[in-house]
Amino acid sequence: MSVIPKVFTEEDRETWRAILHAQKQTRDQQVCDLFLEGVEILGLREDHFPVLEETNQILRRLTNFEGVLVEGLEEGAQFYNLLKHRQFPVGNFIRNRQDLSYTPAPDIVHDLYGHLPFFTDKTYADFCQEFGAIAMSFADRPELLNQFERFFWFTIEFGLIQTPQGRRIFGAGIASSIGECQFALSDQVEVVPFSVAAVCDQDFRIDQIQKKLFCLTSPQQLYDSLDELRRRVQNL
Ligand SMILES: [Fe+2]
Repeated sequence: MSVIPKVFTEEDRETWRAILHAQKQTRDQQVCDLFLEGVEILGLREDHFPVLEETNQILRRLTNFEGVLVEGLEEGAQFYNLLKHRQFPVGNFIRNRQDLSYTPAPDIVHDLYGHLPFFTDKTYADFCQEFGAIAMSFADRPELLNQFERFFWFTIEFGLIQTPQGRRIFGAGIASSIGECQFALSDQVEVVPFSVAAVCDQDFRIDQIQKKLFCLTSPQQLYDSLDELRRRVQNL
């Protein structure tokens, strides 16, 4: 059943403006080019409150991905099934103006600003679809789904990446939060090289700031890791 788009208030629009304004000051030095280019392509700006359908028209043309409005949190098989069908859930609300760096659930800032820019890239989009398809092939083994949760969490949500300009943020969960951006690149974080085994063995709490993060050498390193992930889960 499709979700009716929320009618956003002037206060909601001010929240968007404030967050995008703050992000713009620092993101070029913090976040990877894949994200920055996607933000440009999608035309995400502080002076224009985003309209999902406008964003989707660009995404569909480029990579045949689209955002779909959801109420609440999409988890587990429901979430992987969306990815398998080249869809990404977008929260139908924006966080409270009182605390710009906190959201109780994924909102339009986290999902549309944080995640959707990455889906302008065909290889990234194809990777996410294949990841969703592999996870869905284990949907009848719910005890194994935590492997996919951890993999997704420490890469697509909270990954770091080494670039010629230095270490940058690769994860949308970090990229969409001013506080997480600062913290993730600070010396308070333990940074470990990415490997399938390392991320799948690492438990996490969604309600705490991430003190241990995994760093990719390139996006391709991540894209090339799906066979290993599938084999690992098959053998559990
Ligand atoms: Fe997310």
